[in-house]
Amino acid sequence: MDVGDLDPDPLRQLDEWFGAARAAGETMPEAMCVATASRDGEPSARYVLMRGLDEGVVFFTDYGSDKARDVEENPRAAAVFHWRLPVHRQVRVRGTVARTTTEESDRYWATRPPGSRRSAVASHQSSVVAGRHVLDAAVAALGDTEPARPDRWGGYRILPWAFEFWEGRENRLHDRLRYLREGDGWRVERLSP
Ligand SMILES: Cc1cc2nc3c(=O)[nH]c(=O)nc-3n(C[C@H](O)[C@H](O)[C@H](O)COP(=O)(O)O)c2cc1C
Repeated sequence: MDVGDLDPDPLRQLDEWFGAARAAGETMPEAMCVATASRDGEPSARYVLMRGLDEGVVFFTDYGSDKARDVEENPRAAAVFHWRLPVHRQVRVRGTVARTTTEESDRYWATRPPGSRRSAVASHQSSVVAGRHVLDAAVAALGDTEPARPDRWGGYRILPWAFEFWEGRENRLHDRLRYLREGDGWRVERLSP
């Protein structure tokens, strides 16, 4: 893999590798680990699902969750994808974080099955709960409704300023190409593995 093999736009390059992973049968290619940090710099990481790829990388969550508290205090994040198919690859993304518009959140909410919507309404993500029965009761109370999106649920977009595309090579002499935003474009440089 060399600079000339990659798209000059790293978002398009991510889309290409993501599509290749999915086409090759990678089980959950959209899973990405997102790292955030509190105002004090305390890091925290967890998987979410990439639900959009445009000028940034989009995921949806509960705005009352711990990750949301982090990004509201400190609107920066890093994300990483890892795929074994079609070849061993990792993509790292670093950027600033902004909420999606309410229209975008509504549009995605509408695609979620009713059961998932009810669970999101019943669960205040990352809050301590006395037991499973509390969640079950909150879901049961919703019956078979199709609840509207609560204000506390929506999306975030990681607006990237850096990417790294990693591809496994023999004897661990792997390829690493880093994109850094420069003006309106991107500078690409090779990193030692
Ligand atoms: C593969 C995978 C995908 C997940 N996708 C999401 C997601 O898209 N949104 C979300 O809020 N949580 C998702 N979760 C749950 C999160 O990992 C996490 O438990 C939850 O968001 C609470 O994180 P927080 O307390 O750091 O805010 C996913 C978990 C796994 C294992």
